Amino acid sequence: MAAASSNYVYGIDPQEIDRLGNLDAVHGPPSMAWLAAAGVGQAATLLDVGCGGGHMSRRLAQAYPNLQIVGTDANPAMVAACQGLANEAGLDNVRYVEANAYHLDEPFTERFDVVYSRFLMAHLDTPLQALKAMAAVAHPSGRLFVEDIELSTMAFNPSHPALARARDTILKLVRLHGGNADVGAHLPTLCQQAGWQALNVDHYAAEEPQAAVKRVLPQVWCNGDIQTSLLRHGLLNEADLETVVVMLEQQVQQTTVTLPLVWRVHGTLPPTNNSLHGNGYP
Ligand SMILES: C[S@@+](CC[C@H](N)C(=O)[O-])C[C@H]1O[C@@H](n2cnc3c(N)ncnc32)[C@H](O)[C@@H]1O
Repeated sequence: MAAASSNYVYGIDPQEIDRLGNLDAVHGPPSMAWLAAAGVGQAATLLDVGCGGGHMSRRLAQAYPNLQIVGTDANPAMVAACQGLANEAGLDNVRYVEANAYHLDEPFTERFDVVYSRFLMAHLDTPLQALKAMAAVAHPSGRLFVEDIELSTMAFNPSHPALARARDTILKLVRLHGGNADVGAHLPTLCQQAGWQALNVDHYAAEEPQAAVKRVLPQVWCNGDIQTSLLRHGLLNEADLETVVVMLEQQVQQTTVTLPLVWRVHGTLPPTNNSLHGNGYP
């Protein structure tokens, strides 16, 4: 299979799992509450698309021992790491498979009750295709869930020009890699275009726990692949490389950081596919 993640802005730097773990410390609880409120605990099977370090799939596996979970990612190193972490945690209701979000029906012939994806769409040049692929592997009575950020809403109080510049530089870099870190605001339209029905939309911005929130931006700039790409695209000078992370770490301490709005959409398949089953689980 082609390495679909080759253009992923965070690359294959092994510290990416730590960064995703820090993000999950902030976003895991709201993600879990959102899925629980929608009744995901009653489902039998769930596919987590672009699962990264597997933080959500492990949370779900622990919370719902009867739920059979498959995590998928285009990066084989992530897939292997996830399987190791799940084994270490003694979780036998989650497994991991390498898959490209654009072509989920290649590895998966089965259909899932829940198809879920978090923080993947921002990195795709054609999120619409991935949202359609998610629908293609959902059970006719299944449910579809997607959440992603609108990075330009990340805020600093009091405002801080250097931090705002750092945020905007990452926004630019993601675009240079073909993604859109503001994709969150477009999710409702994209899901509609992908044929998702009965859309339920909301968003939130995280400020807690502030210690983890403050680590997010400097940690982004620590990533080796991000640094290489910033240099390659002329968004950072070699001379600034070492000082910029220290500078960001110091400056976030002087402000309250609000993370980007996270947009969340859940929906169902078109009625023609699920009219016999309604909108709930089997
Ligand atoms: C920002 S991480 C999000 C990880 C996880 N969903 C979370 O919330 O912590 C995005 C992940 O998407 C994966 N990815 C990028 N392009 C992909 C594609 N075309 N198909 C599947 N996964 C992809 C990357 O390898 C990375 O692990």
